[in-house]
Amino acid sequence: MTNPRLKQGSRVLVTGGAGFIGGCLIRRLIKMNDVEVFNIDKLGYASDLCSIQLCENASRHQLVKADLADKDATRSAIHRVNPDVVMHLAAETHVDRSIDDPEAFTRNNVIGTLNLLEAIRDHFQDISDERKSSFVFHHISTDEVFGSLDDKGFFSELSRYEPRSPYSASKASSDHLVNAWHHTYKLPVIITNCSNNFGPWQFPEKLIPLAIIKGLSNDQIPLYGDGMNVRDWLFVEDHIDALILTVSYGKVGESYCIGGYGERTNKEVLKAICELLDNKTGKEDSYSNLIKLVTDRPGHDRRYAIDSSKISDQLNWKPKHTFEQALEITFDWYLNNLEWTKRMLNRNSYNGKRLGLLKD
Ligand SMILES: NC(=O)c1ccc[n+]([C@@H]2O[C@H](COP(=O)([O-])OP(=O)(O)OC[C@H]3O[C@@H](n4cnc5c(N)ncnc54)[C@H](O)[C@@H]3O)[C@@H](O)[C@H]2O)c1
Repeated sequence: MTNPRLKQGSRVLVTGGAGFIGGCLIRRLIKMNDVEVFNIDKLGYASDLCSIQLCENASRHQLVKADLADKDATRSAIHRVNPDVVMHLAAETHVDRSIDDPEAFTRNNVIGTLNLLEAIRDHFQDISDERKSSFVFHHISTDEVFGSLDDKGFFSELSRYEPRSPYSASKASSDHLVNAWHHTYKLPVIITNCSNNFGPWQFPEKLIPLAIIKGLSNDQIPLYGDGMNVRDWLFVEDHIDALILTVSYGKVGESYCIGGYGERTNKEVLKAICELLDNKTGKEDSYSNLIKLVTDRPGHDRRYAIDSSKISDQLNWKPKHTFEQALEITFDWYLNNLEWTKRMLNRNSYNGKRLGLLKD
């Protein structure tokens, strides 16, 4: 069956394709079929193109370096790309950094999305009716826009928006803009809200890669607060399956929640990583002795969990990996790619230091 939106020769724009999830998406798209893939990215501190450059079909990907927060640069990039499908992932994404610099998150995630929507609105008006009929603007968002759950319940497409960090507030704002451009300007949009991703090539500031690299370096592994915050972990490749199904067959004007059926406390995640470290390195002392409780993140959301039944029933998606399988794949990848990980860690003098603490 031919794909109704990712057709042969389609010009697919991925924004944020030099990041963790965008890179994984591009690697999959250039393998999939004869679509042309364009990547608008400003190349920020978390960006890296190695994962794409190492692919066999890398020449089918074109980088268009531009900052979406710059209106004119965005317009000329869209003019150059002339897309049939847009998958918008570009955003600042590290919650601790959003606490230190909320303005940057508003500029990149809110103004950046506004500039992109406006450039795409003009572009959409100019394309032929045939291209219009299969055009879609797919906005990739997070479950964090729904706030925090207590011990029971799940987020779904009907959940109220209740963002609580500068990051989630900026993503919630961008979701609202995308919906408004659909209702007011009839732009064909779809939104997905996904839970926490992990996997190879993730910038080592997020919990899982940071714990792996700290453990391998025999450094203390920080655990925020009481360690009982729960996330619904999803392997990045399973997220990409969901994104490709949604952009291909999702219904315009709808949103889909994507979760991993992988709820774990942060403490459980770190213990599982330490078990892998113990088993794979054969060190006598357990690595779990390196885990250290540290000051909690201000406003730390307690629990996220997703009810994925809509995407599962309507688009036949479910994750292919269990948390344990995906964690081992991820662990082995970092073990074999320490040079890359250390290079990323040392970018802009980050070095794995604690970010996002309020000053006294
Ligand atoms: N990582 C997760 O667990 C997760 C979960 C759900 C949703 N998401 C969403 O998925 C998307 C991608 O997340 P990720 O983890 O790959 O992030 P990432 O930080 O690894 O990559 C983001 C990329 O966006 C680019 N970017 C940021 N601002 C830009 C701008 N103004 N103009 C152009 N490029 C810009 C950065 O340079 C970077 O390459 C984000 O929108 C995020 O909110 C992430």
